[in-house]
Amino acid sequence: MENIIRKGIAFETKQLKEFDKLIKKRGYKNRSEAIRDIIRKELIEESISAPEKKMMASLTIVFDHHKHNLQHKLTHIQHKTNIIKSTLHIHLNCDDCMEVLILEGKVKDIKKFSDHILAQKGVKHGKLVFTGV
Ligand code: NI
Repeated sequence: MENIIRKGIAFETKQLKEFDKLIKKRGYKNRSEAIRDIIRKELIEESISAPEKKMMASLTIVFDHHKHNLQHKLTHIQHKTNIIKSTLHIHLNCDDCMEVLILEGKVKDIKKFSDHILAQKGVKHGKLVFTGV
């Protein structure tokens, strides 16, 4: 890793014990990596609050493709935007499909697009996850 700076952090004894238990459970090899992950997560959370910030995101949806016109509507919404980088479609069973959309764009555009998709009748479940580096 490049540009690593070592800094000391003060913990309460009990807090550190609890933290060590947690990171062991989650499979971290050391505290530094766990703390860096927590910081990254917080920085991404902060970025999401800035509407103009450019981010990557994935939108996962499960929908009933028998629902009248739904597949057509979802495709139509997707064709009207330029934030989609890639899509994955899986036929889960006789009725349900799962789609994962990889999105790149301004936070406000990603949220608006996601809200529009999730609001369609017949979309049973969905989750938008932002990420970044
Ligand atoms: Ni399908």
